[in-house]
This record gives sequence, structure tokens and C-alpha cells, in this order.
Amino acid sequence: MPHTHEMWAVIGIYTGREDNILWRRLPGEAQGRIEAAGAKALSEREAFPLGRDIIHSVTNPIGRLTGAIHVYGGDFFGVPRSEWDPERLVELPYDVQKTLRLFEESNRR
Ligand SMILES: [Fe+2]
Repeated sequence: MPHTHEMWAVIGIYTGREDNILWRRLPGEAQGRIEAAGAKALSEREAFPLGRDIIHSVTNPIGRLTGAIHVYGGDFFGVPRSEWDPERLVELPYDVQKTLRLFEESNRR
């Protein structure tokens, strides 16, 4: 789902591929609604810097594992930030525990 980091980040792909959708806030919209503003496809051996204010979401478009190294310019789990409901695209507080559960589920698979 779309989310912010509230810090700079660099993503480097070491296997597979990922598609990033870049989002922007709709001015004056209630509930922090967003719209798609761009995209960036990343392949193996590519890196992508993300600025502090970027809103992005990521999908794996291929039928196998994609692996990436993410470097963040701060405390990824300690900084309050936002995520967006994937159906309604409304802003919500980032749920760290949900992200940790998703990471664990993905690692088990
Ligand atoms: Fe991210």
C-alpha cells in the first residue's frame, strides 16, 4: 500500500524486479487522498533514491522472489509516518506491527 518514510531512502535490487508507483497528495482533499503521479520499474543491479517526502507503493510483477536492500536515513520503525488504504486511498497512521507481520509472512513463504 502507499506509504511515506519521512526520511531519505535508497532501494537496490539484487534479484528479480519491482515496480514502484509514486503518489502525490491531492490539494485540498479531505482525508489526505492521493493520486498516482509516476512510476519507476527497477531491475536487478539497479538502485533508486527516494526523497524524504516521497509517497510510494511497491509490487513484485514477476512470478518469483524479488530481493532488495533498503537503506534508510533514520529509524524506520520509530518515526511516525503515514500509509494509505489501498482501496480508498485515504491517509492512515502507519501500522508498524502490521508491517512486521507482513515481513514475517513473506519470509515464511
Ligand atoms: Fe517504502
